Amino acid sequence: MNAAQIFDLTGRVALVTGASSGLGARFAQVLAANGASVALVARRLERIQQLQQRIGPRAVAIEGDVTDRASMKRAFDAAEKAFGIVDLLVNNAGVAHANRAIDLTEADWRRVLDTNLDAVFFCAQEASRRMLAANKPGAIVNIASVLGFGVAKGVAAYSVAKAGVIQMTKALALELAFKGIRVNALAPGWFDTEINHDYLAGPHGATLKREVPVGRFGADGDLDGPLLLLASQAGSYITGATIVVDGGQMVALRG
Ligand SMILES: NC(=O)c1ccc[n+]([C@@H]2O[C@H](COP(=O)([O-])OP(=O)(O)OC[C@H]3O[C@@H](n4cnc5c(N)ncnc54)[C@H](OP(=O)(O)O)[C@@H]3O)[C@@H](O)[C@H]2O)c1
Repeated sequence: MNAAQIFDLTGRVALVTGASSGLGARFAQVLAANGASVALVARRLERIQQLQQRIGPRAVAIEGDVTDRASMKRAFDAAEKAFGIVDLLVNNAGVAHANRAIDLTEADWRRVLDTNLDAVFFCAQEASRRMLAANKPGAIVNIASVLGFGVAKGVAAYSVAKAGVIQMTKALALELAFKGIRVNALAPGWFDTEINHDYLAGPHGATLKREVPVGRFGADGDLDGPLLLLASQAGSYITGATIVVDGGQMVALRG
C-alpha cells in the first residue's frame, strides 16, 4: 500500500474536543483533509462555526463543554446524527494555569483536573461505549504533554493531570484492545497557541526556545503525521503508546 492509502481516513467519523483554536483546530483540518468527517466541539460556538465553514460539509460545529457530561452526551448524539457513530475521538480540550503549588486555589486545581483529566476519561468512556454498542472498531487519541513526564515550576495541577492522561491511556488501551479500540496519546512540547502565547512571547520564551534541541517551538504541521499515524490504519498495531513530539526537548539536559 502507498502512504496515502495507509493514512486514509475516508469513512471515519472523528470528534475533536477543543477544536476552536490551536492544536485542536489544526487536528480537525488534518483529519478532514485525509477523508474523515469531523465533529468540532468547543464552548466558543462562533469559532467552530468559522472553522466548519473553512472545512466544508464534512464538518459540523457542535457547542459543548467537556466538563459537563450531559453536554458531551448531546455532542456525541449530534455528531452521530450528522455522520454516524464516532470512531475516532481526539481528546484535545485543555486549560493551563500558572500558580506555584502553595498558592494554587482549590478552584484552580479542580478546573485544571476537571478539564485536563476527568473530562478526558469521561469523553473516552462515552466514545468507547458507543463504539462497543455499535460493534465498531476505532481509535482514541489523547493529548497529553511533555509535562506529563517531567515537571516545571508553576504548573503542578497541569503536570499531574497530564501524567494521569498518560497512565489512563495505558489503562484504557489494555481494556479496549480486544474490542478493536486503540487508545494512544501525543505528548507535545512547546507549541505557540492561545494556552501559552503570553508566556512564550514574554521574557522566558527565548530561553525556553534555546532549550529545545531543534532550536524552535513546534509549528503548524509538526503534529499532523503523528496524529494521522495514531488515527489511521498505519497505526493498527499501536495501542497504549504516548508519542513525544517535542523537538528533542525531553532528551536534552538543561544548560
Ligand atoms: N500548546 C502547547 O505548547 C501544548 C503542549 C502540550 C500539550 N498541549 C495540549 O494541547 C491541547 C490543546 O491546547 P492548545 O495548545 O491548542 O491550546 P488552546 O489554543 O488554548 O486550545 C484549547 C482548546 O480547549 C478548549 N477547551 C478548554 N476548556 C474546554 C471545555 N471545558 N470544554 C470544551 N472545550 C474546552 C478551548 O475551546 P473553548 O474555549 O472554545 O471551549 C480550546 O479550543 C491541550 O490539551 C493542551 O494541554 C499544548
